[in-house]
Amino acid sequence: MEKVIVTRRLPGDAVEKLREKYEVTVSPHQRNLGYEELNELCQGAAGVITMLGDRVDRAFLESHPELKVVSNYAVGYNNIDLQAADKCGVTVTNTPGVLTEATADIAWALIMACGRRIVEGDRLTRSGGFDGWAPEMLLGQDVFGATLGIVGMGRIGQATARRALGFGMEIIYYSRQPKTEAEKQLGAKRVELDELMSRADYISLHTPLTPETRHLIDKRRIGLMKSSSFLINTARGQVVDEAALVLALRSDKIAGAGFDVYYDEPKLTDGLTELDNTVMLPHIGSGSITTRRKMAEIAAENLSAVLQGRTPPHPVSA
Ligand code: NAP
Ligand code: GLV
Ligand code: GLV
Repeated sequence: MEKVIVTRRLPGDAVEKLREKYEVTVSPHQRNLGYEELNELCQGAAGVITMLGDRVDRAFLESHPELKVVSNYAVGYNNIDLQAADKCGVTVTNTPGVLTEATADIAWALIMACGRRIVEGDRLTRSGGFDGWAPEMLLGQDVFGATLGIVGMGRIGQATARRALGFGMEIIYYSRQPKTEAEKQLGAKRVELDELMSRADYISLHTPLTPETRHLIDKRRIGLMKSSSFLINTARGQVVDEAALVLALRSDKIAGAGFDVYYDEPKLTDGLTELDNTVMLPHIGSGSITTRRKMAEIAAENLSAVLQGRTPPHPVSA
């Protein structure tokens, strides 16, 4: 039986089913593995189901000659060196689609939480600071009727935009290619990124992390935002120059920010936790029970397909 590694326990029974065909080892640790631990655990494996924090680089790939497939338990695959995988004859796969709506829901949870100061309100109430209704208590920004700016109008970007219709929002977006279907269905308008940054009340990031999108939202572009605007990041931390963002938040140059992902997660950028105008989640975009089960099924199917010599449902290439 070929050896298969799963680097963290997954919800559902997809991994259990893999045991019928493969010798499966699930990491016994209830934490993310370090690079050396990952290397060690994957010795002799033909396939591995990786988490988005597992670094699958050239050195890793070159030191596991039996490896045929890296099945990432995520849609994003910036943790994997695709060129090196290709060179080593390793197929890389991901889990697109099933997590689109769950992640768009979390983008919206952050939009609402930031705009209407939900977390600050909870903190105030919990700590006994609610001393009765008041005309000027915790005033926020309107969500209904505001302008939503989507950066990266792909599956999740479009699902996030679709929800904005119910909030009477104007939708503007930036992607390298126009999305004509979304323009028709959602009345979304494509604009240049600088215009989006200066016009949108809520800017929601949905690009993958690539060399091109690293620091796409840099100091200059953060500087274009209105003082009443919010930046919402459910994409990847490094799409934003987070140190520059902390400075803008600290000096109230912008109204606030919502985070599900971080620059060097799980580490938090200096100064981030001291700010009141932020809402911070621990990377739970796809974290609904149903979604995480479906992701496990897809990751297992991707892996099995490659090991059985079939084309996997969701290969990714450089
Ligand atoms: P997708 O369907 O591939 O959409 C990504 C979009 O980004 C594409 O439509 C692409 O359009 C655009 N894009 C790519 N490069 C760009 C660039 N340089 N400038 C502007 N736009 C660019 O992917 P998805 O399924 O929506 O997922 C998007 C990302 O969300 C993932 O890669 C992952 O990092 C993140 N994610 C996070 C969570 C979470 O838990 N927080 C969950 C799922 C996914 P063009 O090609 O036209 O530019
Ligand atoms: C989560 O961040 C994913 O890329 O699936
Ligand atoms: C607020 O509770 C109101 O009735 O306006």
